[in-house]
Amino acid sequence: MLLAIGSGQLEAGRLSIGGLVALILYVEQLVFPTALLGFTLNTFQTGQVSLERVEELLKREPKIKDPDPSDVQPQPTAKRQGRFEARGLKVQYQGAEQNTLNGLNFCIEPGELVAVVGAVGCGKTTLARAFGRMVPLEPGQLFLDGVDVTQMPLKRLRRDVAIVPQEGFLFTSTLADNLRYGDPDASDQRVELAAEQARLADDVKGFPDGFGTVVGERGITLSGGQRQRTALGRALLMSAPVLVLDDALASVDNNTAAAILDSIRAQDDRTIVMISHQLSAAAACDRILVMENGRIVQQGHHNALIQQPGVYKRLWERQQASQQLDALAS
Ligand SMILES: Nc1ncnc2c1ncn2[C@@H]1O[C@H](COP(=O)(O)OP(=O)(O)OP(=O)(O)O)[C@@H](O)[C@H]1O
Ligand SMILES: [Mg+2]
Repeated sequence: MLLAIGSGQLEAGRLSIGGLVALILYVEQLVFPTALLGFTLNTFQTGQVSLERVEELLKREPKIKDPDPSDVQPQPTAKRQGRFEARGLKVQYQGAEQNTLNGLNFCIEPGELVAVVGAVGCGKTTLARAFGRMVPLEPGQLFLDGVDVTQMPLKRLRRDVAIVPQEGFLFTSTLADNLRYGDPDASDQRVELAAEQARLADDVKGFPDGFGTVVGERGITLSGGQRQRTALGRALLMSAPVLVLDDALASVDNNTAAAILDSIRAQDDRTIVMISHQLSAAAACDRILVMENGRIVQQGHHNALIQQPGVYKRLWERQQASQQLDALAS
């Protein structure tokens, strides 16, 4: 445009050659800053939208809140025993038409190892969440050492109940940091002990920097079993009186899983709730709760349960049959 209009002006004698060249050079110098200004404005606007989203999140009121100070029951100062009792425990997710947990009644004694089994989607993970009050609960339905969990400060409850989720999350950081998520102030010695208990110590020896190895997205990739054992180690570091494992040993072979449970039980008499799809692991537990459609339909020891017709016997026979098929196929 400058050349087209400029040459016209030049011919008409309204502009000198020197003037035209100077004009072109000035405009050229303006191009980069103008582009930069556009880029800056663009970034600014994106930032503004992100900031609004962050603000929205920060302003959101949590649905599960600490009880009113006047409702908080006096909390025992001594270590909890870890006795969980459910009286007609119901859970309904927001927007769901039916209760996911539909009136569960059970009592888990201190130091007991209880397995929870049942078909896919029967509500096992929801039960695990209920133990840590991570789903909305009505008062008067779930009690830890006789105290209603809805009348307990959330921080206290979640320190006393360690839950290992089905899918543990690893941060892009060192293995030691990932383990310390359970207790940020833990000494190196305790971190190593927890790793030992979770049968992770041998794996760590093979890592380039031991506990200082960065894992996760930008570090080395852990196998499913290593990831699960890291999540378990993290929970063990909390030394909570109640440990809830939500299918947390599914990617660990049976012998290792049994060894892990033995070592946890030998060191501490904590209450353990083990949700599992592997019935052979459940068979070794003190008691088994069998769930179906949000209800407990059977409970007892493995030996008694396989004698009765019912869900457990069916699940057991199906699993035995599929194992035999696998053996034949291999
Ligand atoms: N956040 C949620 N909101 C609504 N419904 C949910 C939510 N989480 C789970 N559900 C529903 O609750 C039911 C029970 O889910 P849950 O995860 O407790 O099953 P599960 O027994 O742990 O299954 P799996 O054996 O696959 O782990 C399912 O029908 C599921 O769709
Ligand atoms: Mg589940």
